[in-house]
Amino acid sequence: MAPPLEKIIAITGASSGIGRAVAEQAAAEGATVVLAARRADLLNDVVAGITARGGRALAVPGDVTRDADMRALVARAVGAFGRLDVMICNAGIGYHDAFADTPPDVMRRLVDVNLMGTLHAAHAAIAEFRAQQSGHLIAISSVVGRRGIPGSSVYAATKFAQVGLIESLRAEFHGTNIHASVVYPISTATEFHAAIKRDFGHDVHGHGPKQAAEAVAQAIVACIRRPRAEVYPYPRAKWLAVLAVVAPSIADRLVRRYARRSTSAGPRA
Ligand SMILES: NC(=O)c1ccc[n+]([C@@H]2O[C@H](COP(=O)([O-])OP(=O)(O)OC[C@H]3O[C@@H](n4cnc5c(N)ncnc54)[C@H](OP(=O)(O)O)[C@@H]3O)[C@@H](O)[C@H]2O)c1
Repeated sequence: MAPPLEKIIAITGASSGIGRAVAEQAAAEGATVVLAARRADLLNDVVAGITARGGRALAVPGDVTRDADMRALVARAVGAFGRLDVMICNAGIGYHDAFADTPPDVMRRLVDVNLMGTLHAAHAAIAEFRAQQSGHLIAISSVVGRRGIPGSSVYAATKFAQVGLIESLRAEFHGTNIHASVVYPISTATEFHAAIKRDFGHDVHGHGPKQAAEAVAQAIVACIRRPRAEVYPYPRAKWLAVLAVVAPSIADRLVRRYARRSTSAGPRA
């Protein structure tokens, strides 16, 4: 059996999906988890479940688009538990439509949550990591952050941007005890598509392999135990990244086959 995971871990977007699964898995292995998202009631449910099973968890409701909320998340983690070992920048939203039909306010929203949210959480955590001279930043990108797909242009742009951040930080912190990792999930069974329907009125269906949030969480927890540059929870997805570099036109054909389909569009909330 693996030794207890004695880490203090902050997770954004922990009220559902991958973030929630990571919180539950890490806490079950002994970690202390500090959880952020906007829906405080759901966060409190996650915390109650973890503490009922003997784990340690704290809810810090907040919005990743607000820098002050991310600073408060780190401050609460350090205040309550003395340090912060890991920040997981996981909160994110999707969108599916032709680029020409994507309104500018939707573009801005995707950039605010997926990119600025990651930057705010990373910036707050790195300040603490530098003071501690240790830490681990993990960004949950997507396989779409390695290879764009039709109908996901703006989402893909935000997911590529997360990769640029992590690659730069990895080089910046080379030789120190501060690690940076990026995770590339494939389509995962979470609230992700329901949130697109709720927020934008689009019914989106993936065509291709799908993973359970728990499988993605397992790969992320393994990366916390042994920091790695990149994590492909569905290992075969790495070949798409390779193909995108060595044969981009063949990759174009492949992603057209597996592209998500948006079957209806309704009014945006
Ligand atoms: N599901 C997939 O197919 C898939 C595939 C590849 C990568 N990913 C990535 O995985 C990450 C997690 O997504 P998921 O699949 O677990 O989706 P999910 O179930 O919809 O979870 C998204 C989480 O982000 C939070 N969130 C959204 N906007 C936020 C904001 N402004 N401030 C704080 N939290 C916010 C949501 O909580 P609140 O609404 O309570 O704030 C929720 O906890 C995302 O970055 C996504 O891009 C997902």
